[in-house]
Amino acid sequence: MRTINLGNSSLEVPVVAVGCMRINSLDKSEAEKFVQASLEEGANFFDHADIYGGGTCEEIFADAIHMNDDIREKIILQSKCGIRKGMFDFSKEHILESVDAILKRLRTDYLDILLLHRPDTLVEPEEVAEAFDLLESSGKVRHFGVSNQNPMQIQLLKKYVKQPIVANQLQLSITNTTMISQGFNVNMENAAAVNRDGSILDYCRLNDITIQPWSPFQYGFFEGVFLGNDKFPDLNQKIDEIAEKYEVSNTTIAIAWILRHPANMQPVTGTMNVQRIKDCCKASEVSLTRQEWYEIYRAAGNILP
Ligand SMILES: NC(=O)c1ccc[n+]([C@@H]2O[C@H](COP(=O)([O-])OP(=O)(O)OC[C@H]3O[C@@H](n4cnc5c(N)ncnc54)[C@H](OP(=O)(O)O)[C@@H]3O)[C@@H](O)[C@H]2O)c1
Repeated sequence: MRTINLGNSSLEVPVVAVGCMRINSLDKSEAEKFVQASLEEGANFFDHADIYGGGTCEEIFADAIHMNDDIREKIILQSKCGIRKGMFDFSKEHILESVDAILKRLRTDYLDILLLHRPDTLVEPEEVAEAFDLLESSGKVRHFGVSNQNPMQIQLLKKYVKQPIVANQLQLSITNTTMISQGFNVNMENAAAVNRDGSILDYCRLNDITIQPWSPFQYGFFEGVFLGNDKFPDLNQKIDEIAEKYEVSNTTIAIAWILRHPANMQPVTGTMNVQRIKDCCKASEVSLTRQEWYEIYRAAGNILP
């Protein structure tokens, strides 16, 4: 598995992260097999959030990996907090309480990375800074990041928070390319020109923040998987053609398409299927040509100006 450094940190991470949002769909032995298969592929970076399965996903994961000090040193654990029922909460108190609960569920005494899950407009960045300082000095969290944030929101945090923001987890798949498409359509009248995220792609590249694309196989907002889906005939034909050339699966090509972008992104997969996680990891060995990248982008229905 190819690795990158997360943000500007010295933390080396596999280019494919294993998302654990759906691990509660597996029984104990399936979860053990899935986690083991991931580790065998070098996919030792696991993405969590306190809300996944209402906390059960973190517990199921800790059981499945048979968490102990030895295994803990071999894996990289990321979790998120800040989403509560009916609100977002970046208060110092909530961040600190959330991390304690996450650590308990994951049966560990530290997180490699903590992300703030969704922007809270009531954020008081001074409080976030205090929380991060305490979490860092106590050794409970080693690196910090955000999710679903635009450049100005990150700038606001950075005014107070002294730790580098190493990652920003954002929705991106071949069929969800708004952050890329706006860059092709600058100052034009078409819908693709709408700048929905304050040029987050360029901002993250400029500031050494690793983008972690979430839902890399979904179209819409969890509407379904685009691979093998009749709604995307041209895209699937193109992906299948390129998959055949590289002698890999269509799953591999969907991840390879994200990895081909020079922003050095770290996609977060959601599959709980042993063969599919292997196929996702295989993408780290496939380097699409510039032409293939553009062909896939256009086959998804995107038009270049
Ligand atoms: N920061 C955020 O706001 C945010 C939001 C959502 C998710 N996330 C993170 O991102 C991770 C991924 O999200 P996601 O689960 O929506 O991502 P995804 O990888 O796009 O979707 C995975 C789902 O698609 C299914 N699937 C069917 N065919 C597939 C194929 N050929 N290849 C791959 N998957 C296929 C999987 O089923 P099988 O299990 O049967 O393969 C699984 O149910 C989550 O686990 C979580 O860690 C973060």
